[in-house]
Amino acid sequence: MSRARAASPPTTTMITLALAKGRIYEEALPLLAAAGIRPAEDPEATRKLVVATSSATLRLILVRAADVPTYVQYGAADLGIAGSDLLAEHGGQGLYQPLDLGIARCRMAVAVPEAFDYAAAVQQGARLRVATKYIRIAREHFAAKGMHVDLIHLYGSMELAPLVGLADAIVDLVDTGGTLAANHLRAVEDILAVSSRLIVNPASLKLKRAAMAPVIDALRKASHG
Ligand code: ATP
Ligand code: PRP
Repeated sequence: MSRARAASPPTTTMITLALAKGRIYEEALPLLAAAGIRPAEDPEATRKLVVATSSATLRLILVRAADVPTYVQYGAADLGIAGSDLLAEHGGQGLYQPLDLGIARCRMAVAVPEAFDYAAAVQQGARLRVATKYIRIAREHFAAKGMHVDLIHLYGSMELAPLVGLADAIVDLVDTGGTLAANHLRAVEDILAVSSRLIVNPASLKLKRAAMAPVIDALRKASHG
């Protein structure tokens, strides 16, 4: 007589979404809510880095904005929300980018001190010192223009660099232009329109398609109004 096999417990597929605190989180929150995803606690108030949500099968991990593509690339997160600036800097290898969420919109630009004649410097083939967090994007931008530049890698507050003689120019994000104006700088070249994208680990999508597809669809609907 064969013994009845014990029923195996139902397996739940946990999906992990990586995003950064601050601007991206705040702007993503309404989209997540529209997709039925509400964090169980306020990421700005907790020191936890893994946060449960109203969905038993979706959790958030809170990482630095620049680290989101890396977590998703290696499959430590199945999904992520990342600025297209940081995706361009990362290179985007090993990532699907199915959705422009249309949040955290700004642009990336070259900026110089108000009195600096950038056009003349370019025409004369001057070798400029350029401070930026976006080394790869800046290198590609100036290479495409045939300009020789010395890049100085900073991690923030790029607008300070020309004011104290560290650089002639910066490559940074501009939204209202308020930070440039407050520091007597002006944008002289646009490089990239920036917004945040949903990014997906391709292997996760294969393995967890049934669980992930509804989340991606809900975010698509939420972001397209
Ligand atoms: P960290 O705090 O880890 O250094 P960060 O300063 O890059 O990260 P945020 O300022 O929150 O973090 O920026 C995250 C993303 O938001 C950027 O990668 C960009 O896509 C977008 N972003 C940054 N600044 C602006 C802005 N002024 N207006 C609109 N979107 C912006
Ligand atoms: C971003 C960016 C610019 C500023 C541009 O900085 O690096 O400094 O916003 O926005 P604006 O054109 O509206 O002034 P953020 O405020 O995120 O500060 P941080 O990157 O130094 O954290």
